Amino acid sequence: MEMRTTNPETINFKDKFDLHGKVIIITGGMGLIGRAFSEACAQYGATVVIADREGAGSEEFAENLSKRFNREMIGITFDVGKREDVERLKKTVLEKTGKTDGLVNCHQNKTAKFFAKFEEYTDEDWDAVVETNLKGTYLTCQIIGGYMAEKGSGSIINMPSTYSVVAPNQNLYKGTSIGCPAAYSASKGGVMALSQYLSTYWADKGVRVNQITPHGVSNNHEEQFEKNFSNFHH
Ligand SMILES: NC(=O)c1ccc[n+]([C@@H]2O[C@H](COP(=O)([O-])OP(=O)(O)OC[C@H]3O[C@@H](n4cnc5c(N)ncnc54)[C@H](O)[C@@H]3O)[C@@H](O)[C@H]2O)c1
Repeated sequence: MEMRTTNPETINFKDKFDLHGKVIIITGGMGLIGRAFSEACAQYGATVVIADREGAGSEEFAENLSKRFNREMIGITFDVGKREDVERLKKTVLEKTGKTDGLVNCHQNKTAKFFAKFEEYTDEDWDAVVETNLKGTYLTCQIIGGYMAEKGSGSIINMPSTYSVVAPNQNLYKGTSIGCPAAYSASKGGVMALSQYLSTYWADKGVRVNQITPHGVSNNHEEQFEKNFSNFHH
């Protein structure tokens, strides 16, 4: 148990961010944010498990990190919305490392017709977005978080969105080819509710459940979108 103190000089702040000896699973680990988190966790000493879907290149990225950091990193191809795949993810990580300390859910599904108008949205696209974004978070929390709760410690970070909390300003997307589909908002609203639920549900089991809502992470967006965005955000 860490000593309580009001004297900041006695706290080693660097140690608080040290991840040596920790095993951290990052779903959607090949995405814009997931890849940056994987790199950051690797730089701070963790054994990183990059888990992403078919064709994303998780294994290659893990190999690259292993070489650069001289530590075993794990790359796994899986579908976060499929129970058997998430079970396989847990099994592989436990077989290779014997534990799991952290889970960062960075996945999201942008289907082929993701930006279709609400009136024209297909059930297939709706289901695919909800299955990956919400069910995927439920499955990883249940299967990997459940393991952490059994062991009595762990940390989960889920990734809802600004649009779990507020309505999108539709003017942001005027003159652009992108938007914020209702399926995205609805699924991410579910991720937020689930995360809040689990934060108290596992409070006495030593599992912390937190969430980050990124907003407009730069990604070579269309010029018009960047203009709209900067006009609306001061
Ligand atoms: N980028 C932003 O500005 C922003 C803003 C708010 C919220 N977020 C949230 O943060 C998270 C990361 O965002 P990002 O911009 O890095 O997203 P991204 O689209 O760049 O990455 C998502 C990753 O998820 C993977 N993925 C998709 N379907 C999957 C499946 N079925 N199984 C496993 N992996 C799958 C993709 O291959 C991809 O690598 C997402 O949940 C997103 O909704 C991002």
